[in-house]
Amino acid sequence: MVRNWSKYLVRTQTQDEDLTKLAARSGTALNGTISVPGDKSISHRALMIGAVAVGSTKVCGLLESEDVLRTADALRALGVSIDKSGESWVVDGVGVGGLTSPEDVLDLGNSGTAARLLLGLMASHDLKAYVTGDRSLRSRPMDRVIDPLSRCGAVFDFTDEERMPMVVYGAAEPIPIDYDVPVPSAQVKSSILFSGLNTPGTTTVREREATRDHTENMLRAFGAELEIVPVGNGGRYISLHGYAELEAQEISIPGDPSSAAFPGVAALVVPGSEIIIKNVGINPLRAGLFQTLKEMGANIEMNNMRKTVGEPIADMSFRYGPLTGVDVPATRSPSMIDEYPIAAIAAAVASGETRFRGISELRVKESDRFTAIVDGLTACGVPVRSEGDDIVVTGLSGLLPGGAEINVNLDHRIAMTYLVMGLVSEKPVVIDDADVIDTSFPGFLGLMTGLGADIAPFGA
Ligand code: S3P
Repeated sequence: MVRNWSKYLVRTQTQDEDLTKLAARSGTALNGTISVPGDKSISHRALMIGAVAVGSTKVCGLLESEDVLRTADALRALGVSIDKSGESWVVDGVGVGGLTSPEDVLDLGNSGTAARLLLGLMASHDLKAYVTGDRSLRSRPMDRVIDPLSRCGAVFDFTDEERMPMVVYGAAEPIPIDYDVPVPSAQVKSSILFSGLNTPGTTTVREREATRDHTENMLRAFGAELEIVPVGNGGRYISLHGYAELEAQEISIPGDPSSAAFPGVAALVVPGSEIIIKNVGINPLRAGLFQTLKEMGANIEMNNMRKTVGEPIADMSFRYGPLTGVDVPATRSPSMIDEYPIAAIAAAVASGETRFRGISELRVKESDRFTAIVDGLTACGVPVRSEGDDIVVTGLSGLLPGGAEINVNLDHRIAMTYLVMGLVSEKPVVIDDADVIDTSFPGFLGLMTGLGADIAPFGA
């Protein structure tokens, strides 16, 4: 086998060129009614499941962010036609088994979800693909999907450790597996279920703690046969019948609760604020932050609750008020895994101590978010410490010192987190790279300034 392909896959990235610095300052309350862009997790899944369905799937409210557009590009390269038509997107599915080898490298940018879920889809298709991503994605562990997908019969070739860049050889004769997921992960679960779509027999995933179930909800909506058995302390066994026949659907994507978290927490911590966010996804397996904030005494309300493609949604209101520190159990982490950075800002403004338990998984997100929380809060004068896998924040009961420049390290959520912190700090908080926000939340700046937030280019 020729192994020198990797030199074509690793793009050189000049980190310091043309980065947009933003500064956030306190002083104005946030008020207004907004909607946030579509849910990132559900958007990826709508494109991928639509891609292997039979017929044209229409997707309304797709998140048009960097990450999701990478998924669309990758699926096109795998032989699927995806186009925007007016306000919606149309995916002309090739049917389960219909994906073909791409002619060029699949560059998945910053997206761990695109990477892990697409590896699952490709694993049971008889194809070969070169896959890479940006500096952040190339540093993230892929063994968590490589291990189960290899058992299905797919073969992977790497330069070094089990990370991007890689070559994927999908299995010509995939084998159904029964897999016990060692670390709670919706990406791993979904990757395996996707591999099971074009595999004979039954593919089973066992998760000890339930993780976001958008894949299960959407596969069912497309007609797949799934059995979900609740077990023990909140775990689930999910079995998928192979050679699934998926029928194209019309999908309306809810607003992303992980994006709503940023203006939502900003309104809770900036004095005098009150905002409404319409059409937010409130799937219980994503709502851990809202539960934690309520335990802290936050004024949050959910109104007009309804459902779209098996997903509950609501209009949410967030009103400023005093917050109190809480102890957040490790069992809550799957339902707020992406929200710890912004939760740490609420904890910093609260009175008393907040302990976030069992969050070592944050170390392998778009950046090492465990360190980004501890270092960023410290740089901005907030007492914080790590104890094993826990982070403990001592709240300052109101305005924070601020006054630091944060290196966001290609991490969209770290960028937005520290901008929210600046809105409640004596001195401005600066982030070194605002462009990464487009990974998940295009329009963030306009939406926040529209509510009254003082966020503007720094040093331009
Ligand atoms: C996601 C699952 C989570 C989350 C990520 C999106 C998904 O990752 O952090 O942003 O869409 O399935 P893990 O499965 O690695 O916990």
